[in-house]
Amino acid sequence: MAGLLESAPYYQFDNGRGACHCLTRIKLSKVIIIILLILVVVSLFTHNYLTKLDTGSPGMDISQTHSRLETFEDFTSMKASDLKSRIEEMLRIKTSVSNELRDLEGKRQRLQRDVSSFSQKIDDLKQELLHQQTDLDRLKISVVQAQAAQREAVERNTPELAPPKRILINKLPDIISTIDNSRSCKMYNCFDHSRCALTSGFPVYLYDPDLYTIVNNNWDIDGFLRTTIKQTLGYNPHLTKNPSEACIFIVLIGEVLSLKETKTSFSLRVIEQKLHSLPYWGGDGRNHILLNLARRDLSVASGNIFSGSINTGRAIIVQSTFLRNQYRENYDLIVPPILGPPGGDIWQECEKIVPARRKYLLSFQGEIKNKKIKTITPRQGDDTDADIEKIIIDENNLDNFIIQHLNEMTIGTTMDKFLIQFECIPAIENNELTDSFDWSLCGTESSRKEILKQSTFSLILAPANTSYISTSTIQARLYESLRSGAIPVVLGGDQILLSYDEVLLWKKSAIFLPKARVTEMHFLLRAIPDNDLLTMKRQGRLIWERYMGTVQGSVDTIIAVIRDRLGIPPLPAIQTTSPSVFNDTFVPLKSDNIITEPEAEESLGPLEPPYPSPAYKRNYTSMLIHRHEIWNDWVDPFNLYPQLPFDTVLPSDAKFIGSDVGFRPIGKGAGGAGKEFSESLGGNHPREQFTIVILTYEREQVLINSLARLYGLPYLNKVVVVWNSPKLPVEDLRWPEIGVPIVIIKASKNSLNNRFLPFDSIETEAVLSVDDDAHLRHDEIMFGFRVWREHRDQVVGFPGRFHAWDQNDHNSWNYNSNYSCELSMVLTGAAFIHKHYTYLYTHWLPQAIRDKVDEYMNCEDIAMNFLVSHLTRKPPVKVTSRWTFRCPGCPVSLSEDDTHFQERHKCINFFSQVFGYMPLLNTQYRADSILFKTRIPHDKQKCFKFI
Ligand SMILES: *[C@@H]1O[C@H](CO)[C@@H](O)[C@H](O)[C@H]1NC(C)=O
Ligand SMILES: *[C@@H]1O[C@H](CO)[C@@H](O)[C@H](O)[C@H]1NC(C)=O
Ligand SMILES: *[C@@H]1O[C@H](CO)[C@@H](O)[C@H](O)[C@H]1NC(C)=O
Ligand SMILES: *[C@@H]1O[C@H](CO)[C@@H](O)[C@H](O)[C@H]1NC(C)=O
Repeated sequence: MAGLLESAPYYQFDNGRGACHCLTRIKLSKVIIIILLILVVVSLFTHNYLTKLDTGSPGMDISQTHSRLETFEDFTSMKASDLKSRIEEMLRIKTSVSNELRDLEGKRQRLQRDVSSFSQKIDDLKQELLHQQTDLDRLKISVVQAQAAQREAVERNTPELAPPKRILINKLPDIISTIDNSRSCKMYNCFDHSRCALTSGFPVYLYDPDLYTIVNNNWDIDGFLRTTIKQTLGYNPHLTKNPSEACIFIVLIGEVLSLKETKTSFSLRVIEQKLHSLPYWGGDGRNHILLNLARRDLSVASGNIFSGSINTGRAIIVQSTFLRNQYRENYDLIVPPILGPPGGDIWQECEKIVPARRKYLLSFQGEIKNKKIKTITPRQGDDTDADIEKIIIDENNLDNFIIQHLNEMTIGTTMDKFLIQFECIPAIENNELTDSFDWSLCGTESSRKEILKQSTFSLILAPANTSYISTSTIQARLYESLRSGAIPVVLGGDQILLSYDEVLLWKKSAIFLPKARVTEMHFLLRAIPDNDLLTMKRQGRLIWERYMGTVQGSVDTIIAVIRDRLGIPPLPAIQTTSPSVFNDTFVPLKSDNIITEPEAEESLGPLEPPYPSPAYKRNYTSMLIHRHEIWNDWVDPFNLYPQLPFDTVLPSDAKFIGSDVGFRPIGKGAGGAGKEFSESLGGNHPREQFTIVILTYEREQVLINSLARLYGLPYLNKVVVVWNSPKLPVEDLRWPEIGVPIVIIKASKNSLNNRFLPFDSIETEAVLSVDDDAHLRHDEIMFGFRVWREHRDQVVGFPGRFHAWDQNDHNSWNYNSNYSCELSMVLTGAAFIHKHYTYLYTHWLPQAIRDKVDEYMNCEDIAMNFLVSHLTRKPPVKVTSRWTFRCPGCPVSLSEDDTHFQERHKCINFFSQVFGYMPLLNTQYRADSILFKTRIPHDKQKCFKFI
């Protein structure tokens, strides 16, 4: 809100007032002419009168009069009495003349008043005529629009599709005798789809881990996992307490704490028995998900309890370690081990992704036990024949060759630094837990982190035993690499699978190489340019933060992958309710005080009845068409949104052939200049309206004036006022009637974050966010709206700002509002955004950012720009230069003071720390209307008069 008050370049546009001056000038000149006329008339009059007086009796000839006048002047020759009477006569004449003049002056003034009142009336009538004409035009096109809408309603032969009733199975699984072919399970032969209707909402049942523990005396579930999984699943909206409506049943297996005896057939039989006696197992474990999550112990033995020794029937197994012949592709699920905290912000765990290159080009620390690796260090002058012999002997052992090659690489002549250790220093203590065919992690978590955050790439070596398609250690190595912003290089990448690979495109964030390419690896890594390095790092971080970093993320992801497999859409994203500031009994006063805009004679579009944007039209298709983007780019498969800024666009001809509903092509498709343009929205998207959201705090009159100015704004759906003050509006406040509903929402607390809450009362995709004191003219709003319709995923608005690299510090950013030909932010005190971003701002952004906004009572607009640029990798769009800023009676100082700027500097730097890089992008582009500054024939109109 405060942002707009800065001492920035505002363009005072006073066309209206200019016109007024002209009018008065014209009037003034008229009056002067009239006065001159009157003066001339009066002087003539007077002269005539005097002449008449002087000449006395008619008929006297001129010369006589002349002589008499001469004698008249000759006072000396006059008698005193004569003179006296003369003087008296003169005085009489003077009085009478001045009386006459007074009368005339009065008359003149009356006439003058009449003249000016008439010309005023003429002006008023002209103005009135213009208004009426515009109103008439507007009504005409409104009628046309209404007719189009009506025609559509009549012609539409497909009625608005109503979703079928939510079908729930409401029946516990039948008992079927166990089948043998569970090894070849796929969704089609082992999954019971009848429990999971498309509209069921995907109910998930969790066997309470406190009641149904799949344990015996030596085998227990890690306590942290037990409580955390239960808790985090509790936050998952799909969870149901009713097993008879559930689509899937989750069983928590957890991690083996004591390995001794677990492999004995007795204890395995106990486990199997417990599994099979689960109340809804149904004989074969259909639709059961066995969560076997590794946490502390990453060894293969514990990571894979179900390696064929237990009959798990048709249950889907979710774990980190799988044997190739055990893993049923697109049925079982490979997940990362649970290594992070239960939930919350985890950005602090991450390393910044910039700079692209770090100290070490590549690092690796791992060890294979029980297999002494001979490292060859060629020494000067030494005879290394024996060693070479050994390599030749071991030729068929690729791993030895790899070790050999990598060791040579580290001591080679390259400038690149490597940190490659095949023996742990210090040595791994617990020999028992390390495996003889997979690379154990060296050192402690923090010592590994120290190395990884200095590494551009992190090597992940596939297990020596190719029977494994995934191991907990590999998944843990991946987890740690991504967390530290080191790009994973999977050597043996064609031999293993990474987690969730049915939905995540790992090639965007990791490099996969067959082991045979080890000699080409260095060349390949060096050939990757910085922009791709940073793209991969950013991608890795997005995935880590959403899907792996927290237990909540892991649990939600597992459920989302299975749901996605079944083609069931996620549950709708939560909207914020819009409680009114007024109670049910109170009826706010109305006022018909309308502030008409000086530019109101320009017809900008039809006035239509409210038309909410169609919602939830792509429930079943966006998750198919945008599946890749949803999982990998927007990293948000957990929510269903009513619309997306990225929704697909029809080809132009479809609007005329078959799919014309909602489209309002310009000139019915024939095109046209200003007149036709103002009548229809045109563009590539169907007709729509926008909602204005105003955040206000204890400036009632300013707000009321701003609201009153919105009267007659085309395409306006609704005005949502967020009442941030705990004080309710005064009761006698008169709210203007502007032709659309004004919803005044009581905010739960005074926060600038309320500006971006996804209120359920916002029913359009387009949201115009404005400050309560911002004055945008109607044509500017209209133009902004039209531009936004072509840049729906960007912030489109008026006041531009930029982030500037600090010239003194060389290590931080400054917020800058100076005149500039390049900008990177558009302030949301006057900007269009898609409603989708309000969901993301409120639920997707790290909490730390909203907290910072609350701490400073500032920067919410910067945060929104960060969010949109982060997601889209696009800068905002600035429209037109004319932006009137008027704020009668506002304290100007609020944001001009230095602390405001200091806070904004700090925000920018803090936000870029949270994102791990600076997401803002520069732009030198500004949108003006097409025919702006174009010479056009007289019979044509521009798109906008002034823009
Ligand atoms: C899509 O999902 C939303 C939210 O669950 C629902 O309100 C809407 O009716 C659904 N639309 C269709 C066509 O199924
Ligand atoms: C690989 O591991 C499997 C399962 O543990 C084992 O049966 C097999 O013998 C191992 N292969 C080699 C070459 O070590
Ligand atoms: C409703 O609000 C008005 C004005 O805020 C107040 O005067 C009135 O007492 C309230 N009524 C109830 C029932 O709370
Ligand atoms: C804006 O420009 C003025 C004059 O060039 C300069 O003094 C000032 O430091 C600039 N402000 C910022 C924030 O860069």
